[in-house]
Amino acid sequence: MERTGGSVLWFTGLSGSGKTTTAERLHRQFLDEGRPVELLDGDVIRGVLCKGLGFSRQDRLENIRRIAYVADLLSRHGVTVLVSAITPYQEMRSYLREHVHGYVEVYVKCSLDVCAERDVKGLYAKAMRGEIAMFTGISDVYEEPEQADIVIDTQQHDVEWNARRIVEWLQQRCAVE
Ligand code: PPS
Ligand code: ADP
Ligand code: MG
Repeated sequence: MERTGGSVLWFTGLSGSGKTTTAERLHRQFLDEGRPVELLDGDVIRGVLCKGLGFSRQDRLENIRRIAYVADLLSRHGVTVLVSAITPYQEMRSYLREHVHGYVEVYVKCSLDVCAERDVKGLYAKAMRGEIAMFTGISDVYEEPEQADIVIDTQQHDVEWNARRIVEWLQQRCAVE
């Protein structure tokens, strides 16, 4: 790979779809290769920069706006940024395309049934019992991306296959730039 700096790979998808797993896999690879890279994960950011924000539409928009600001700054300095955040609304993703330098939308595709079966954190079980208000896919909407630059399917392909596809996509794009 000649250059990946300046790209913001923004992983959007349902909880449990594989955003964090895929982003962490690429993060390790880019670190091993000595490339400047940062990982901004929704769960982590919500404990620091976005502490206090909840899951209302308004709070989610604010959460994404703050992550976008940091991702844009890093990207302008040549850092490859990996963002893993649900980013459920089309309105958010249109904002990102307009405001984030090097924005690349990666739709992490996985059916709601499989995500709920995986239930990595036990959140789906809670949401289905009505214990979590505004839970994405259950009591709040996930608007499926229609303009994603890359779609990875985590039911059909494993993390290695998907990571390779993303790197190939970046290589091709850099070759023509
Ligand atoms: S968003 O919609 O982009 O602002 O969400 P994000 O910052 O990525 O945070 C999602 C993580 O928060 C946990 N969680 C919830 N997700 C969705 N809906 C509700 N109501 C909710 N409550 C807590 C959950 O761990 C999400 O992380 P992932 O990695 O997606 O499972
Ligand atoms: P998210 O961050 O989108 O909530 P996670 O990465 O935390 O999702 O969880 C995805 C879960 O699905 C993990 O337990 C992971 O091991 C599993 N999984 C199974 N197949 C895949 C795949 N192809 N890609 C990514 N994760 C997968
Ligand atoms: Mg995650």
